[in-house]
Amino acid sequence: MSTPTTSTTPTYHMAAVRAFMLSALFWGIVGFSAGLFIALQLVFPELNLGLEYTTFGRLRPVHTSAVIFAFGGSILLGTSFYVVQRTCRAKLFGGDWLSMFVFWGYQLFIVMAAAGYVLGVTQSKEYAEPEWFVDLWLTVVWVVYLVIFMGTLIRRQEKHIYVANWFYLAFIVTVAMLHIVNNLAVPVSLTGAKSYGVFSGVQDALVQWWYGHNAVGFFLTAGFLAIMYYFIPKQVNRPVYSYRLSIVHFWAIIFLYIWAGPHHLHYTALPDWAQTLGMVFSIMLWMPSWGGMINGVMTLSGAWEKLRTDPILRFLVVSVSFYGMSTFEGPLMSIKTVNALSHYTDWTIGHVHSGALGWVAMISFGAMYYLFPRLWNRDRLYSIRLVNLHFWVCTIGIVLYAAAMWVSGIMQGLMWRAYNEYGFLTYSFAETVEQMHPYYAIRAFGGFLFLVGALIMAYNLIKTIKGEVRDEKPMEYLPTVKTASA
Ligand code: HEM
Ligand code: HEM
Repeated sequence: MSTPTTSTTPTYHMAAVRAFMLSALFWGIVGFSAGLFIALQLVFPELNLGLEYTTFGRLRPVHTSAVIFAFGGSILLGTSFYVVQRTCRAKLFGGDWLSMFVFWGYQLFIVMAAAGYVLGVTQSKEYAEPEWFVDLWLTVVWVVYLVIFMGTLIRRQEKHIYVANWFYLAFIVTVAMLHIVNNLAVPVSLTGAKSYGVFSGVQDALVQWWYGHNAVGFFLTAGFLAIMYYFIPKQVNRPVYSYRLSIVHFWAIIFLYIWAGPHHLHYTALPDWAQTLGMVFSIMLWMPSWGGMINGVMTLSGAWEKLRTDPILRFLVVSVSFYGMSTFEGPLMSIKTVNALSHYTDWTIGHVHSGALGWVAMISFGAMYYLFPRLWNRDRLYSIRLVNLHFWVCTIGIVLYAAAMWVSGIMQGLMWRAYNEYGFLTYSFAETVEQMHPYYAIRAFGGFLFLVGALIMAYNLIKTIKGEVRDEKPMEYLPTVKTASA
């Protein structure tokens, strides 16, 4: 392997990175708006509009797919193309042409999936709703993505493969495996949209939640950990806290996550030993998750003061704290007796969104603020103060969302299981729904704030692309008592 010199530094292929960042911005706003709309439907059921296309049941997967696959996926694919080139000092294998094929192919997948949900074309597996022809198309796109990533790794000019790339690779390979196995299905006809899965009964449920949980583990976690390992050291301008810890973190996460899926199937027809196995692996997951969190946060040691003046770093670091919080809560919820209370309730929704909004979205926002000026060759962002405003509006929104769901969820679970001295249930189902109404309104307000924050970000980033700079006082401007009173 030749030793790289400055003169060998290649000009990288950034067309697909730029395209994915723009699509993340677009799909983020679409997905958050869909989330807000379905949250409002739970407060005002009239918003179902009496049409089959706009019912909660059809729009919910539009929301989940738009935020996870369209927004999250664009962030993951875009940043991976950026990071692999920079850390390997190698141009993307296949160049702009092949990477733009992945970009357009992935957009087509998103549009086909979303159109299917609204029209009622779905195989009814959560997070794997698209029918067989959409799945086949995604497989083609994904294989090309893997080829580009591997090809770039192979032609690297650096001896070591930086840890972020291991996480990206684990994400790409595992998602491919999960997608293929969980979507094995036989189409009813080659021209029809309907298919039947090859698994049935409890095997189907087990495969689905092996898929579902590892979509969390490898799509919403491993890929975003790659972002943590690249963008936090870059933004803080220090090496990662512990290289050794990152290796332990990687192998422990990879080994443990894959077994934890049965915690979604507690008290079902799944054999008891398999449920307990899922629970035990989930509890073990707490350790590597926190190891990774500590590694990310401690990268700031010696530079904590930067948190005061750099709102981009704040996004990145607070996201890692949310990661710590949701990976503490997850193992707790996997304990069977706790799950007996939390399952089916809004507690799960609170857990999901503290992870999804706090961890996934916040780290994505940090990465976007880092990348936009660099990708469009601008000296700086349009406004740092707007980043700060976004940070606070977004954080307050998340806290309102998650707190409302935790309270509502635990209350809901307790009301369901309450019974009187004759053994009759104390509350009817409708009574529990009525009690949840105010919390749904608070959640919708939290989601509204979160969306407003994203719109502020979009404004800031579009101005940045245009090369405009807002005339504002720098963030470190803190008037002393003397100057303030002068
Ligand atoms: C404006 C922001 C958001 C709002 C208002 C919102 C709202 C909602 C609502 C109302 C539901 C349905 C809950 C239910 O069935 O009771 C939901 C589900 C879900 N959302 Fe969001 N959401 C937002 C952002 C996000 C983001 C950014 C992500 C992921 C990155 C996300 C991931 C999910 C997932 C995975 C579910 C399904 C949860 C489950 O089945 O347990 N959401 N969201
Ligand atoms: C150590 C890490 C984690 C563990 C052990 C864990 C465990 C759990 C458990 C026990 C449930 C409830 C299952 C049920 O009752 O149906 C759950 C649901 C969920 N978690 Fe986590 N969690 C972890 C981290 C995360 C993170 C970081 C995210 C998001 C980025 C996340 C996203 C979700 C989603 C989307 C669901 C809802 C799945 C559904 O029913 O649709 N989890 N998790």
